[in-house]
Amino acid sequence: MKSFLNRTDQWALFLNIMCLLLLPGDVRVRSQVGFESERRGSHPYLYVDFRGLVLAAPSTESVSPWGCRCCRPLSFQRRLAVSPSLLCPSSRLTLCFLDDDYAGQAKCMLRKVGSWDFDIFLFDRLTNGNSLATLTAHLFNQYGLIELFQLDVIKLYRFLVLIQEDYHSHNPYHNAVHAADVTQAMYCYLQEPQLSSSLTSCDILLGILAAATHDLDHPGVNQSFLIKTNHHLASLYQNTSVLENHHWRSAVGLLRQAGLLEHLPVEDRQNLEMRLGSLILATDISRQNEYLSQFRSHLDQDDLNLQNSAHRHLVLQMALKCADICNPCRPWELSKQWSGKVTEEFFNQGDIEKKHGLEVSPLCDRQLDTVPNIQTGKMY
Ligand SMILES: *[C@@H]1O[C@H](CO)[C@@H](O)[C@H](O)[C@H]1NC(C)=O
Ligand SMILES: *[C@@H]1O[C@H](CO)[C@@H](O)[C@H](O)[C@H]1NC(C)=O
Ligand SMILES: [Zn+2]
Repeated sequence: MKSFLNRTDQWALFLNIMCLLLLPGDVRVRSQVGFESERRGSHPYLYVDFRGLVLAAPSTESVSPWGCRCCRPLSFQRRLAVSPSLLCPSSRLTLCFLDDDYAGQAKCMLRKVGSWDFDIFLFDRLTNGNSLATLTAHLFNQYGLIELFQLDVIKLYRFLVLIQEDYHSHNPYHNAVHAADVTQAMYCYLQEPQLSSSLTSCDILLGILAAATHDLDHPGVNQSFLIKTNHHLASLYQNTSVLENHHWRSAVGLLRQAGLLEHLPVEDRQNLEMRLGSLILATDISRQNEYLSQFRSHLDQDDLNLQNSAHRHLVLQMALKCADICNPCRPWELSKQWSGKVTEEFFNQGDIEKKHGLEVSPLCDRQLDTVPNIQTGKMY
């Protein structure tokens, strides 16, 4: 297995990631791209070995390497099924949905969780508003992260419910469905063959965790609003990446509250928390150029080495950033729903600003701005 990507590969990787922003037409074919799970197993840099934990490889290329969900019940659900007392706690998250019609359809959808045209809105309806927890639990299972990191399934389950509920369901855009969408997009990137062969299980755990938590407790207004209204978070984080710092600290708080990683050695846990922060902070769109130029300089110097953990971390940051803003690259039926939601959230901010006699932010005036304006001007 080669350790350096040659120039063509680097550009291919770069373009694969970047074109999702710029060339929506190309993206549609992505769902047909296969991925090779076997390549991951033998990598010397794996922090924990995947061998034996990945589901049996398929005999034909056309089948998903993860196999058919219908023939192989999800182990998360299976585990829950053996402990009926744990099945339906007071929580809204009821994964005990096996005999439910909608749940059957949701399970079926998960067979195509790696396709670019995955309809997260439909999935959210079919799971009764539990798309984030259900999807994330599925990915943890699919990657064998529960066994690899010796996670307590019940703690994981609690953690996922906690993060899902920490998103504000009344935000038109920055809610748990957006987090689920970003997590699904992140999964698509993690499956890119050039990447998946080099990622360690730690990278994967972080990539999924960061995607699922990257907007935790988002208030539905932006940083400039928090600064101009003297919100305590703005002073706490000194006007810098105010929201992103808050999302990260919230994620760490919930990880600790659920005790999900408490069995790991302290250094490992701290390291995970720091890397999680570094990924979430990369979603600050106002620092976009820093990351882009860092990435571009690696490409220019032709030295991107995916066996170097710092380089892999940078690629994960880029992947999360792209996943966060990939709405316009989704199939039109999905991207138009997202643009309606983001517009509504901007307008809500404008309404609050008007109500409090503040200057209305650009693009936030319901009376003046139009959806196409916002689509061309925005980056959120
Ligand atoms: C944050 O911005 C506000 C408004 O511009 C300013 O008054 C305040 O001093 C800034 N705080 C810091 C820590 O920079
Ligand atoms: C957020 O802040 C920027 C200024 O940094 C502003 O231009 C933008 O319109 C604001 N509102 C929204 C909803 O993005
Ligand atoms: Zn986001």
